[in-house]
Amino acid sequence: MRQNLLRADSTLLRYPIREVVEIGKQLEKRGHFSMVWENIGDPVTAGETIPEWMKKIIHDKATRCDTFAYTDSRGDIAAREYVLEHFSSEKVCTINDILFFNGLGEAINKILNNLPKEARVLVPSPTYPSHATAEAMHAGCDFISYQLDPTNNWEPDLNEIENKVRYNEQIVAILVINPNNPTGSVYQRETLEKIVAIAKKYDCFLIFDEIYHHMVFDGIESTLLYEIIGDVPGISMKGISKDVPWPGSRCGWIEVYNVEADVNFRDYINMLLLAKMLEVCSTTLPQKVLPTIYAHPEFDQLLKTRIQKYQQRAEEAYQFFKNIPQVRINKPRGVFYLVIELLELPYAQLEAKNKAVRLYLNELEQQTLQQDFQFAYELMGSQGICVVPLSGFGSQLNGFRMTLLQNDATVFSQTLQYIADAIDEYYQG
Ligand SMILES: Cc1ncc(COP(=O)(O)O)c(C=O)c1O
Repeated sequence: MRQNLLRADSTLLRYPIREVVEIGKQLEKRGHFSMVWENIGDPVTAGETIPEWMKKIIHDKATRCDTFAYTDSRGDIAAREYVLEHFSSEKVCTINDILFFNGLGEAINKILNNLPKEARVLVPSPTYPSHATAEAMHAGCDFISYQLDPTNNWEPDLNEIENKVRYNEQIVAILVINPNNPTGSVYQRETLEKIVAIAKKYDCFLIFDEIYHHMVFDGIESTLLYEIIGDVPGISMKGISKDVPWPGSRCGWIEVYNVEADVNFRDYINMLLLAKMLEVCSTTLPQKVLPTIYAHPEFDQLLKTRIQKYQQRAEEAYQFFKNIPQVRINKPRGVFYLVIELLELPYAQLEAKNKAVRLYLNELEQQTLQQDFQFAYELMGSQGICVVPLSGFGSQLNGFRMTLLQNDATVFSQTLQYIADAIDEYYQG
């Protein structure tokens, strides 16, 4: 090539949830075994079946000619009307303030990339990696973060948020993921109200990733941004990947709140719309079926059954790990993930499946790895379980995230046991 094609900041581009899979596949091949994939939040890959009524809705829509057309650039009108009526509020949002994207992944990138380079978004740590990576790539340097506190149910550190916002004029927005990936926490209303108050005080806008808004465990109260935002400008992000569940649809949307409250915010939102127009629109089919799926008489029960299963898994895992001294664990309050923190984690090795696996792991470990990456690789090579290291979620803490999605209760219990055995052996060195 006539020029170097790599951007100077290319090392910031990371997505560990899928990067571990590449390594896992190599290990499977060398060790002749089948990995238990605990890395990805995809209920369908984890074995959940799609009910016939849902397939029929999609089938019927797919046989109509208008499903093959473009939609309005903002998204299909009926889908936006449904979203406004059921997931949002006319007090802060109108039909024109809802914008559909090809998955929230696309929305995350557009939201960050259309900000000026100097305008920074304060993201949580740990965080869903797409947010941190998009923030870092747009700024051309490391992302700026606030800590979620594992000694306080992973609630955000409000003092840190306020101090960072107060002393860093470049911060224009605060990102909150609620219910949270990776920690499984669902924040107290009071915490969220305080974050809104900080945004108001320092003239920032809010970005609430609420893609898991339906995934809240029984007995847990949850608060959505539109309920507490008042007159502060903000964006709520939602989508159908997790609750329908249809991650392969690539369908998510943003609801912009109080767009007229600030001229700079309004101009920025107009840019987002122009950026979407440049691509014409997002995929039509999932938008067309969205109202019918959510309004179907069996949808609520389906969701309830799924959430009950995750809650049972969360309870089992919590009881299983809570007395292991090297581990810190918070019981999830929603979503379908569990973070297991590994305290004072050493570098060690586990007994590998065979010699070829050992040699490959040794090769990987020649580079300097973060402790929890080494643990995750060793866990794959010895127990055949793939998890995502906690440091891959932009955290300084060591540990890993597994899912609560496993459909087979026996396999889930076995997986917990294998992980506990691996932790025990690893700490013994
Ligand atoms: C917090 C969070 N936001 C956004 C996404 C991306 O969702 P989508 O499938 O709509 O791109 C995910 C996917 O795991 C997520 O966990």
